[in-house]
Amino acid sequence: MSERIESVLHEERRFSPPASFRASARIGDAATYQELYRRSLEEPDAFWSEVASELHWFRRWDAVLEWEEPFARWFAGGTTNLSYNALDRHVEAGLGNKVAFFWEGEPGDRRVLTYAEMLREVGTFANVLKARGVTKGDRVAIYLPMIPEAAIAMLACARIGATHSVVFGGFSAQALVDRIVDADAKAVITADGGYRRGKVLPLKPAVDEALQRCPSVETVITVRRTGSDVNMEPGRDHWWHDLAKHASPDCPAEPLDAEHPLYILYTSGSTGKPKGVLHTTGGYMVGTYLSTKHVFDLKPNDVFWCTADVGWVTGHSYIVYGPMLNGATQIMYEGAPTHPAPDRLWSMVDRYKATVFYTAPTAIRAFMKLGDAHPSRHDLTSLRLLGTVGEPINPEAWTWYRRVIGGDRCPVVDTWWQTETGAIMLTTLPGAHDAKPGSAGLPFFGVEPAIVDVDGNDVARDDGGYLVMKRPWPSMLRTVYGDDDRYRNQYWSEIPHVYFAGDGARRDADGYFWIMGRVDDVVNVSGHRLGTMEVESALVSHEAVAEAAVVGRPDEIKGQGIVAFVTLEGDRTGDDGLRSALRDHVAKEIGSIAKPDVIHFAEALPKTRSGKIMRRLLRSVASGEELSGDVSTLEDRSVVEKLTGAG
Ligand code: WTA
Repeated sequence: MSERIESVLHEERRFSPPASFRASARIGDAATYQELYRRSLEEPDAFWSEVASELHWFRRWDAVLEWEEPFARWFAGGTTNLSYNALDRHVEAGLGNKVAFFWEGEPGDRRVLTYAEMLREVGTFANVLKARGVTKGDRVAIYLPMIPEAAIAMLACARIGATHSVVFGGFSAQALVDRIVDADAKAVITADGGYRRGKVLPLKPAVDEALQRCPSVETVITVRRTGSDVNMEPGRDHWWHDLAKHASPDCPAEPLDAEHPLYILYTSGSTGKPKGVLHTTGGYMVGTYLSTKHVFDLKPNDVFWCTADVGWVTGHSYIVYGPMLNGATQIMYEGAPTHPAPDRLWSMVDRYKATVFYTAPTAIRAFMKLGDAHPSRHDLTSLRLLGTVGEPINPEAWTWYRRVIGGDRCPVVDTWWQTETGAIMLTTLPGAHDAKPGSAGLPFFGVEPAIVDVDGNDVARDDGGYLVMKRPWPSMLRTVYGDDDRYRNQYWSEIPHVYFAGDGARRDADGYFWIMGRVDDVVNVSGHRLGTMEVESALVSHEAVAEAAVVGRPDEIKGQGIVAFVTLEGDRTGDDGLRSALRDHVAKEIGSIAKPDVIHFAEALPKTRSGKIMRRLLRSVASGEELSGDVSTLEDRSVVEKLTGAG
């Protein structure tokens, strides 16, 4: 944390919300935002009580917040249920026939599910789980493609108080083992496979492999999606449709304590194995509900499309929970965005008349590269608002998105948040604020961010520093699952008494935040967080590898790519055969997204005299930059000369 953080981006353009958007927006001017924001900080009890009262509670809370740093209890003493609030509440209000999901499989198959149908499916599956012995407090791993059963399974867990742990379908069997073991999951919900780029991505075989090392799992429930042949272990494995046939759709939602664990989601940090970020019930519900409503300016007739996978937090907060708590109609898509043709998503925007579209900068850059012809072929005039999340967006991609997808008509919201924050923290509100391409904007309600130096002192406007949060917020993580010390150390100790986000940022004269990226050893590949340590330990677990150092380098589409520097055991020599073996090995240990783009074989890695790998140097080598800065602590200068010459 000693390197100076310098901001190099200077972007002066501003885009005001169109008058027509403003006129019907939930929050249509900056003064209204300002007043609500002020209230959220100065009268938090009243502010959050009002928001929470828009939702159903079986028992009202005694206190809005009990805070014993770093442990928060929001809506203490209250009982509620997210599944009830996302389903029953709407059906009881007469909205049972409203579409919850327009779903499309990659091959083109379609399903439409109303809120009443979702409630029946969720109730049925909740009863299936109960019949398999899953009860309140148990952990359930979910390893599914983007099919409605993913949302159904999550909401069924939430209904009975089982804690779900969704594992992204692109992760390997080994990654699944790590997550199942850490959470001590009792059941796994999976599918025979899913469709991706015209091929079947097998899932059940990975579960079978994983379960050889997961003694806690008693039940596996498999959705038939592709019809591929799968092995079914008698006693342990069941088909979803077989179990559902005999289950009643009636399953009253369990009143759960506001702090009951809702889910664990694993995310990469700078050290060790992925962390199990724990979210609980009441505060997460209120935070995702409110942010969805205001950031996406949701109205009853909107058709909302968040393109994230449920394997990531965006799919949790802005597909399953936030939009459903708001009773929104959504689009869900299973497959690759460019299958069978580069205009797949745009044809779907047109078909379902999507009004709000939320995606990642990496996708926007990829679409931009594919060219304007694909979106231009379709009528995108139903869109009224665009959003991005996951990594800093370059102004060029931002303006392309606004012009080509948004027809120069739609505001663009750049939303900064994290798995840990549970909900959007920094953004512009689309009807209230000017947007500046490349800036995430202003704090959302109840969020008190600051930019500080290593000692926690505020830095001057426009100076770079560490992004921190000065107070707890409802949807914050409660701990790292099973490891309160790690929670305290990672998030609340780096800089005393504030939440340390791990990002560098600056704040401009208008108070807008500009995120510069991670300041720890985390790379952001296509919006997915990967710890360089994780990739290093995967590499080192290969018999040919002695030592490995992994760094990020800028990548035009993915934001960052992965470059590995590897030294080999004994007299092994590096060649392309070994390179591809190592890439496959990393895919097996973690998943394909973690495969290094480039592997450099080196005789030695540059280290300081105290033996620390000099990542700053490696980052420069990886990006092809001139080596600059201080190399006086380098132990052996010739190592660097060899590296820069190495291929
Ligand atoms: C980065 C994704 C710039 C950031 C919701 C953060 C962003 C990490 C933005 C969290 C944004 C996310 N602008 N950077 N709008 N949104 N990030 O946990 O580095 O997968 O710390 O959550 O992504 O990634 P995570």
